[in-house]
Amino acid sequence: MSGPVVPQHARELAQAARRVLVLSGAGMSAESGVPTFRDAQTGLWHRYDPAELATPQAWARDPGLVWAWYEWRRSLVAACQPNAGHRALAEWARIAEMSVVTQNVDDLHERAGSAVVVHLHGSLFAHRCDSCGAPVELPVPDQAEISGRLAPPVCVHCTGRIRPGVVWFGEALPAGALDEAMTQIEASDLVMVVGTSGMVHPAAALPGLAVSAGVPVVEINPNPTGLPADVHWPVTAAVGLPALVDQLG
Ligand code: OAD
Repeated sequence: MSGPVVPQHARELAQAARRVLVLSGAGMSAESGVPTFRDAQTGLWHRYDPAELATPQAWARDPGLVWAWYEWRRSLVAACQPNAGHRALAEWARIAEMSVVTQNVDDLHERAGSAVVVHLHGSLFAHRCDSCGAPVELPVPDQAEISGRLAPPVCVHCTGRIRPGVVWFGEALPAGALDEAMTQIEASDLVMVVGTSGMVHPAAALPGLAVSAGVPVVEINPNPTGLPADVHWPVTAAVGLPALVDQLG
């Protein structure tokens, strides 16, 4: 089977790069079966808008609904596997210095073998108490058992509620996450922007920061986004990344 044609400029930049920074978004995990944020939701959650569930206001108003939605997503992600794009990045790390900064709250980069330096929007697998902040590990729930609402567990230290370890709209990013991402970008000689719509700030400003710092940017996304890049390659992550890494040999 023949793969896609890798744009020549993307190939040259990738071949020359010693330090690569990958900025990934939900499209990175789409071919693993994780719906992107701006896809319509299906099944149990088709009536809800993710942008309305992912807020401190929704948590205050209806914690059982918000907790059930995140537990449902956690069990969905746990049942998914890294795709060929995640695996290609892990392979690339064997020949170049590679840092992954992701907006994704899944753990698919890690499971493919990549070290993620920053989860800009937190993680589905890092719960904490919403009162005292104590971290909590919980077994992955059975998706079939999640219907409607689920009461969030109570903190054993302070009786606060356990909340998802993600960043909600209106909340600050994890301490130091943005600075670390910016430092990594400025120290790299290629930024790969993969599967992000560029609609959520401050993450959406990072490709522009790379351009201002003189670092070349290659974007992989089947749809146009308006993000600045030297090469816009309209291809999916699981098709484009393996084809690119294949040329690095
Ligand atoms: P979005 O859902 O906004 O955008 C997904 C992007 O992936 C779109 O530009 C698609 O064209 C692209 N895409 C779809 N399938 C793809 C594939 N197979 N390969 C490559 N690209 C593909 O997701 P994000 O940009 O990650 O924040 O969204 C940013 C943030 O908004 C999320 O982290 C989340 C959300 O609200 C918080 O929860 C704080």
